[in-house]
Amino acid sequence: MPMMNDIEKSDKEVYSIILRENKRVEEGAEMIPSENFVSRAVLQAYATNFTNKYSEGLPGKRYYGGNEHVDEVETLAIERCKKLFGCEHVNVQPYSGSPANLAVYFALMNPGDTVMGMDLSCGGHLTHGSPVSFSGKWFRSTSYMVNKETDLLDYNEVRRAAKKEKPKLLISGHSAYPRKVDFKAFQEIADEVGAYHLADIAHIAGMCATGVHPSAIPYADVVSTTTHKTLRGPRGAIVMCKTEDRLKALYDPNGKKNLAQKIDSAVFPGLQGGPHNHVTAAKAVAFGEALQPSFKEYCRQIVKNAKALADTLMDKGLTLTTGGTENHLMLIKLNVLGLTGKGKEVQTALEAANITTNKNSIPYEPGSPFNPSGIRLGTPAVTTRGFKESEMKELGEGIAKVIHNHQDAQVIAAVKKDVIELCRQFPLYPNLTVLK
Ligand SMILES: Cc1ncc(COP(=O)(O)O)c(C=O)c1O
Repeated sequence: MPMMNDIEKSDKEVYSIILRENKRVEEGAEMIPSENFVSRAVLQAYATNFTNKYSEGLPGKRYYGGNEHVDEVETLAIERCKKLFGCEHVNVQPYSGSPANLAVYFALMNPGDTVMGMDLSCGGHLTHGSPVSFSGKWFRSTSYMVNKETDLLDYNEVRRAAKKEKPKLLISGHSAYPRKVDFKAFQEIADEVGAYHLADIAHIAGMCATGVHPSAIPYADVVSTTTHKTLRGPRGAIVMCKTEDRLKALYDPNGKKNLAQKIDSAVFPGLQGGPHNHVTAAKAVAFGEALQPSFKEYCRQIVKNAKALADTLMDKGLTLTTGGTENHLMLIKLNVLGLTGKGKEVQTALEAANITTNKNSIPYEPGSPFNPSGIRLGTPAVTTRGFKESEMKELGEGIAKVIHNHQDAQVIAAVKKDVIELCRQFPLYPNLTVLK
């Protein structure tokens, strides 16, 4: 990373913080399922001249001059993304997952219209109708729950809730659901109640793109995703959609725009200003990487690693929601160990052992959103650094040890030593000059 040498000279304060962050990631097991580590090529695309350019509008239709190369790179990102997901249309400009979802609401809904997503405690995202987000404040928010006994999605229950509440937008896709999602079933329910179907595949995008998880693209009207989770691209998002608006006659009889035009104009000028072109360049690089056969292998390994980790945790006496995982993540139920509401304490103990996780609500949370009873873990980031099933077993044993002894500093210190040794065998950015 040649530009790092300049920071070293010009800003010692920031430089030393960057060094400390590099040490943290090199020596720690990053288990937050929404995180990943981009390639050096993606990092380098970020740090380019494209960050300087204003380019409001779309390729070939910009408000400012000097955009011929921005047009090239955005067109390439669009074409690669279409090939990767097989989608009809994509807007690659959303700044992140939450603004991408806001754009979808802005394109399809009016304030006060009804949205239905998965309840936050069951694994939904804040932007799927939580009362603390725009989605719950400006829209009538309703939700579906998972089954109380199994923690699994129950499509009959989703259907019942949708028929009762009649949402205009039904959201599938989740932040903390460890099983496969049946997007076809969601589409059928949306059809039955006259709702648009948004599949927010932020967490599972990499697996959807490679066929490791069934894709939402053939079914949902709109598919949003962040680019920085399993897709392993830069921080940002995209919104994909069908071209035709299936429900135009119902909701927009005199409108002229098709669905793709509605999404595009909701992103800009509806919500955003100039796109972040350095991120667009990095998205193009990441989509190029995801089109390689090795990326499918990577996604397969994410799922194999998650299964190995889940099996180890359960062997060591921990209980997982739904009894396991079929994707990249899992949720430990601490309440079963008598640790109701102790998610934060356990997260802190794991962090002291260099294992980064996040406290998380579990379905029908017996604690509170601020003191939840779950720990959410995922494998995308450690899989990127090369961990396979045997490393997952070792890590899983360490995690279980810390959880069972979360107040024992000696146990935590011993696990930390093992984690550092394990991580050192799999350096992330081995030749990064700042790590000298
Ligand atoms: C399903 C889902 N959608 C949207 C988002 C929001 O993405 P961002 O944090 O980039 O706004 C997340 C974030 O974790 C998510 O899990």
